[in-house]
This record gives sequence, C-alpha cells and structure tokens, in this order.
Amino acid sequence: MSRISLSINGVLQDVEVDPTKRLSAVLREDLGLTGTKTGCDAGDCGACTVLLDGAQVCACLTPVARAAGRDIRTIEDLNETRLQAAFLRYGAAQCGICTPAMLVAASALLADNPHPAPQEVRDALGGILCRCTGYARIVTAICHANDPLPKEAVPENGAAVGAGVERLDGAPKVTGQEEFGADGWPEDVLLVHALRSPYHRAVFTFGDVESWRKAAGLELVLTAKDIPGKNTFGTIPAFADQPALADGAVRFKGEAVALIVGTTEAVQSCDMQSFPVNWTRQAEILEVEPAQQPDAPLVHENRAGNLLLAGSVRHGNVPTGLANASFVAEANIETGFVEHAYIEPEAGLAWMEGETLTIRACTQAPVMDQETTAEILGLKREQVRIIPAATGGGFGAKLDISVQPLIGLAVMRTGRPCAMAFTRAESMASTTKRHPARMRARIGCDAQGNISAMEFTGDFNTGAYASWGPTVANRVPVHASGPYRMNAYESEARAIHTNGPSAGAFRGFGVPQAAIIQEMLFDDLALKSGIDRLDFRLQNAFRDGDKSQTGQVLQAVGIVECLEALRQPWADAIAQNAEFNAQNHTVKRGVGVASCWYGCGNTSLPNPSTIRAGVTPDGQIILHQGAMDIGQGANTVITQIFADALGARLQDIALVGADTARTPDGGKTSASRQTYVTGKAAELAGRALRGKILTQCNMGDGALITVENGAIIVRENGQELRLNLDRLTPDAHGYAIAAEESYDPPTQALDANGQGIPYAVYGYGAQMAEVEVDMALGKVRVRHIHAAHDVGRVINPMLAEGQIEGGIAQGLGLALMEEYIPGRTENLHDYLIPTFGDMPEITSYLIEKPDPEGPFGAKGLGEHVLIPTAPAILNGVRDASGARVTRLPALPHRVLRAIHEARND
Ligand code: FES
Repeated sequence: MSRISLSINGVLQDVEVDPTKRLSAVLREDLGLTGTKTGCDAGDCGACTVLLDGAQVCACLTPVARAAGRDIRTIEDLNETRLQAAFLRYGAAQCGICTPAMLVAASALLADNPHPAPQEVRDALGGILCRCTGYARIVTAICHANDPLPKEAVPENGAAVGAGVERLDGAPKVTGQEEFGADGWPEDVLLVHALRSPYHRAVFTFGDVESWRKAAGLELVLTAKDIPGKNTFGTIPAFADQPALADGAVRFKGEAVALIVGTTEAVQSCDMQSFPVNWTRQAEILEVEPAQQPDAPLVHENRAGNLLLAGSVRHGNVPTGLANASFVAEANIETGFVEHAYIEPEAGLAWMEGETLTIRACTQAPVMDQETTAEILGLKREQVRIIPAATGGGFGAKLDISVQPLIGLAVMRTGRPCAMAFTRAESMASTTKRHPARMRARIGCDAQGNISAMEFTGDFNTGAYASWGPTVANRVPVHASGPYRMNAYESEARAIHTNGPSAGAFRGFGVPQAAIIQEMLFDDLALKSGIDRLDFRLQNAFRDGDKSQTGQVLQAVGIVECLEALRQPWADAIAQNAEFNAQNHTVKRGVGVASCWYGCGNTSLPNPSTIRAGVTPDGQIILHQGAMDIGQGANTVITQIFADALGARLQDIALVGADTARTPDGGKTSASRQTYVTGKAAELAGRALRGKILTQCNMGDGALITVENGAIIVRENGQELRLNLDRLTPDAHGYAIAAEESYDPPTQALDANGQGIPYAVYGYGAQMAEVEVDMALGKVRVRHIHAAHDVGRVINPMLAEGQIEGGIAQGLGLALMEEYIPGRTENLHDYLIPTFGDMPEITSYLIEKPDPEGPFGAKGLGEHVLIPTAPAILNGVRDASGARVTRLPALPHRVLRAIHEARND
C-alpha cells in the first residue's frame, strides 16, 4: 500500500492504496465517485473514461500510481452544462450507463472545438461503446451542445401524447448520480463471487470446503445444499429447470456451482483455482443436429429427448400450393448465438430491512424476481422486496434472474449487506443469448407474383436450460410468414437443448432470425417473377380485414403505409446505385428492403399490467407505475399517457417508479408490451381518477385539472373549483382520491394447427438498407437505413426514433459482425458490437395507423425495429454483389465466398 495524492475535479485527495490498483476502482471504491462506470475492465467498452490532464483514458487500464499528481476529471466535474442539457434535449441517454463516459469525452472535445462536425465527434468518442442508442443522438447532442434547439414547449393539459418531451427520469443519467446495480454499496458490504464450471458438461464433487474457507479468510462458502427453498427456477414456471447453484452436475460452461462470501479484501485476493472441487468432464453436445440423434446424451435426464418444445402453425394445402406455383424459392440459413452485450454486467446489493429481504439489482422483471427469489430462498413472496436499480441495458437477458437469489442467500446466512457484480467474462458465460437458428424454407408464387404457399422449419438451439425457449418455439411459427398474405402455410419451430449457454429472450424472440430467410426468399421470387422487390412486398402485404396465418382477422394494419414511405428513397437509391456501379468495379452499391410485424405481449397467455394513481391530502398527483424503464422510456411514455387520460399537465404528475413494495405489477419489460399494455392500464387509471375527481367537484367532461400551490384546481367554462381534500378519508395507501386499473390483452389460445388469436395488437415496419460491398475483400459498409414503423400513435417521437436507431444498431450487428462462440467468447474484444464508426445514416418515418385496442391507438415498437434490419442489409449485399449469404454474421470471408459462388468462380 502507498499513500498517493490525487487531484480529482480540482480537489487534492490522498488515498492509501495499492499503487497498481485500477484508477476506476479507486474512484468508485475508495472515493465513492461511482459516476465513473465499469463494463469490462479491459479497455473495450470505454464506460470508465475519465480525463487525465485533459486527455481521455480508460480508468480501468490506468494504475492509480500513474494518475498521481495529474489532473483527473470525472463526470462529477460536470454541473448543469449545456452539454448535459443537450443530451437530454436530443434523447442521447437511454439506459444511461455509457452516458458519463460519453459526456466526459465530449467535454474534452468541446473545450478544443465548440462546434465539432459529426465526424469529429465520431472520431473523438470512437472508443466508447453504447448498446442502446445507435449513437446518432449522441453525435447530434454534442454537435449542437453550444447551439441547441429550443426546448420542446411544456405540453398543456391533454397535449402530452405526441410531444417529444425530454425523458422525465433523465437528470441523474447526465450527472453520474444514477445508481446502477454496482453503485451505492455500503462500506461494510460483503462481496459474493461465484465458482463456475470450466466445462460444458461435467459432474462434480466438493472436497474439504470448510478448511479451504478458513484458510482463505472467507465468511462463508455456499453450495446447492445451502439453498433453503426450491433449487429450480425458470421464466416460464411450467418449464422451470435451472438450479440457482448446480447440484452435482453442470450443463453449460459458466454455470455457478458455489459462492464465496467475504470482505472485499478476502474475496478479491482469493485464489479460486485452489477451490476444492473435483470435476469429471463428460462429452458435450453444442449443436442441434447431434442433439437430435436418437442416441444423443440427454441434457436433462428427466426428459424423453433434447427437444424442449415445438410450436407450429398451419393452414391450407402447402404441397399443392408449392407444386402449382409458377416460381419457387428455397434456402437453408444458419445463424449463431448472439450476445446481448449491454454495457452493465449484472450486479446488485441485498440487505435486511427488518424482516424483509431487500434487493436492489438490475432487472427487467421486478415482480418475477421477487417471486423466484422467494421460492429459491424458501420465503413468502411478501418477505422479499425488489427495488430495481437503474438497469444499464437489458434487451431480454435481464428478464432472467442473475444475482438476486445468490446475494439474497448470502444475506440470509450472514445478516449483513451482500453484493455481487459479474465480471464481463461471467456475464457473457452465464447469461442468456439469442437462439442460433438452422432454418429451411420454401416459398412459391404465381406468375403475377402473388404468394401461394410457404413452408418453414427452424431448429433453435436453446442451450442448457429452458429460459424463454418455449416462447421462441411458439412465437416464430406465428411470425415466420412476415406481414404477408398466403393461401397455404406450414411453419414449425423447435427449441432444442444442447450444452451451450441458455438461449432466451433477445429483442424479437426468434422472429429476427426467421425474417432473414423469409425476406431473402421474397427477393428471390421478386427477381424470378420480374417484379420490383418493393412492389412485390406491397402486392403481398396484409391489408385491414386480411386473415393472419393463425386465422386472426387483422385490423389497423400499417405495413402498406410503411412500404409506401420507402418508395421515393428506394427509387432514388436504385438510380444512384446504377450510376455509381457503372463507374466502379471494386466497390459496388446495392439496396435491400425487408418488412416486419410483431405481436405485442405474450403469445396467447395472460400478461396483465396494473397502474395505481392517487391524489394525496396535500394535493399531489402520484402515479405508481411498476414497468421497468431500462432506457426505452417507459417512465416518460406511460406518464404522458396517464396525464392525457387524467386531463392534467405532465409536470403535475409525480412518478413512483418500479418497487415491489410501492408499485403494483407492471409485468415484464419484454415483448414490446409496456407502451401498449401498461400504457393501456395507465390510460384506464387516468380516466378512472379523472372521473372520481370530477365527481367530487361536480364538473363536466371538459374540465381541466391542474396542481397549483399544493391544491388541485379544476376549471370548466370559466368556473374554477379548488378540490376540498381535507374532508376525504385517506385510503390504505394514503390517498384522498385514488384509482387502480388493470389491463390484460384479449387473446385466444392457439389450437393444434396454431389457429387462434395470439396477440391483440401488432406493430408493423419496413426498412431499406443502402450498402456498399468491397468485391475484393468482402467487406460490407452500410451507408444509409430508411426505417418506416407503424407505431399506431406516436406517444413521444424523440423516444420512438431513439428506439428505432438503437434497434438498427443491433440488427446491423446481427447481420454483419456478432457471433458468440460458447467457451471461447469472453469479452468485448472477441465479441464486436457496432461502434460509432459502424453506424450508417438513419432516416426514420413514424407511421400512425391507430389500433383501437392500444392506449390512444399506440402499438409496441421496441422489438419490431430490429427485425427488418438484418434482412434488408443482406438483401442489399446481394443486390450489390450477387452474394447470397446463408451463414450469419456476414463476415468478409463469408461474403467473399458467396460472391465467388454467385459468379461460379
Ligand atoms: Fe448507451 Fe445504454 S445509453 S449503453
């Protein structure tokens, strides 16, 4: 240990630390400056960026001794700057985990160059990753920090829906005060760390753990035998099959088998290699093909085979439809595991609050965390309280529990606050992935280009445990047709166990993979039938009153409007590409188009949300909304809906965010359901509260409600009334007037042929990708994406466009660069996600085809936006180069091979 003098944000501070300790750890652990985030401890993500003598450094790669005597600047140095205001004004912060680093780096750029050009911003911040935004809004905010657009006017009563207001929970994201799972740990916290399997499949026994624990100076070692409740969990109770700690056998590499609990020093210095565990490695199966062989070892011995679940949808006579078709196209396509790669690895803190186990961790599903944790720990549900931490990206993987039962168990055994933060390698090894898919499809059309029949089969590698595999198996067959009419359709998706990481929810639940093959075959058929590829899609697109493949009569169908929105840029791109390609031979340009549709909410299953709201005796209007905002904007959008339904001003609503002790169940943040389902509950609660307020003061439907100086004022036709709250007896929640409303989408179970009403509301979209292919190297550059999405009713255009841009970034990664290889991919330099430099220009077109079921007509958007991106890019690659890439991602060597195949080289 050494005494080191640091100059931090202009203040000299001495610390007694190991001089090799990471500067990021000193800032966070020794000085409490948790505005600096850590996402990888390897210099890959840039979340820990600080300024050292005015230059950006990754604090995780900087030994503290190197910073001695130098000027260190962190996010805490920024205070109400124009730059921070611009981040809020332009929607540059979504989850906010990358935001401190972006702001710190941008502040250095702006100090030298107050009006940077977009490319200068991209160059200056190029080492910092963002997984949410697609970067465009960050660039715009920095470029305009010193000449921002005027603020959006504060919406008056009834005008919140449709206004591009700044996110209501944005301020702490731009000051570094937002507390994520690894922030705000008390000094006396005990750390929890997991021992994980080094093998994909093995059995194991423990040696003398107690002697090892004592020698290591640890408080506790916990194994499966210490779990007091049911050591099995799953996101879908009927398929629950995953132990919190493996009991004698592991099914994937990275599975947790034991926990160590101790002081920070004891845990950080512990030699986990010496842990007394004896492994017997067993032959693993990592691919779906061998997993389906009759003699394949069973991943779960209590199941008859490795098939977890098959879902199917069928109608009409497909063999006849294909036999009679004028043109038939077919393909086999394969995709790999895709990692969510949020910048915040899983983390959380637990402690006892009286008799209640309280957990503050990152999550997308607080009530499910509460139920699951209670079950594992043998507690009643009400004995567990989940106060979600700010969540630094989720995209589906943080629907599954991670640290919650593990730190809960440690607290129950020690009675002390316990915390855990996964390393990047642990996060990548142990959390869910997008399902790898092996898909085969055939589609036929008549001579005029009308689709006659389609058959689709997909084997989805669901890995070791069920997670959301059943959801993928059920959702894919419904959606694999795309938003198109077909006379005959047969589709089957199978979720198959292997010893890979569990594949679960990832923005689209398998639909993005299916869209790749369907949209490729649509291009084949358009080319065969001599019809323009955009026209071919328009010709076959669903219209109002059409039946889906499940026999559901569709309404509020916006796919035609989305495709029509692309018509002019499509024509322009084709003309410009022809000119460019005539003059260039090494680099060729092309354009591709693809569509999407996506049912919002669970497939034929209940998924209710409840909203509570009330007026306090001292005249405040409080909205309790339990839908997790993981950056997508639920806190803002749901409040906008509620405000207009109540007829009050947005600024008069105080928000209570997700907390199982304070908010009713808003359901999971998944399946693009929060704006629609929780938004609908908010609309109903707003209208119900309005009715009660108006009844109290005997005012009519047109009355305006405002909060003024601690009083509720209701005005109508020149009459003004102050609501007398004193005479009302507060309810159990302390409200003088209150309303609580629930909404559950009206769906219908699918029958044996997959016929029924799986979703009440669908959203639609179409994207067009302009790409450039280097014919010698196989490198693809996406130049521009035009994205048209039917959101029913735009609740907040700024947030909606932010979702589109972020989804496109993930779709681009799926198409061109991202592949997780079990047991090999461990970090963000093996696993590349799009950076500032990879992103194309994006133009968004928000289409409004109101759905009668949605709140103010709104539909979901979050998952839709990723679905058409990869097929549009791949169709563009084919248009440019002839390469029909059938193995994703389309890495240069695969593109090059496909170019040679197309040329018959
Ligand atoms: Fe950048 Fe979430 S806002 S990672």
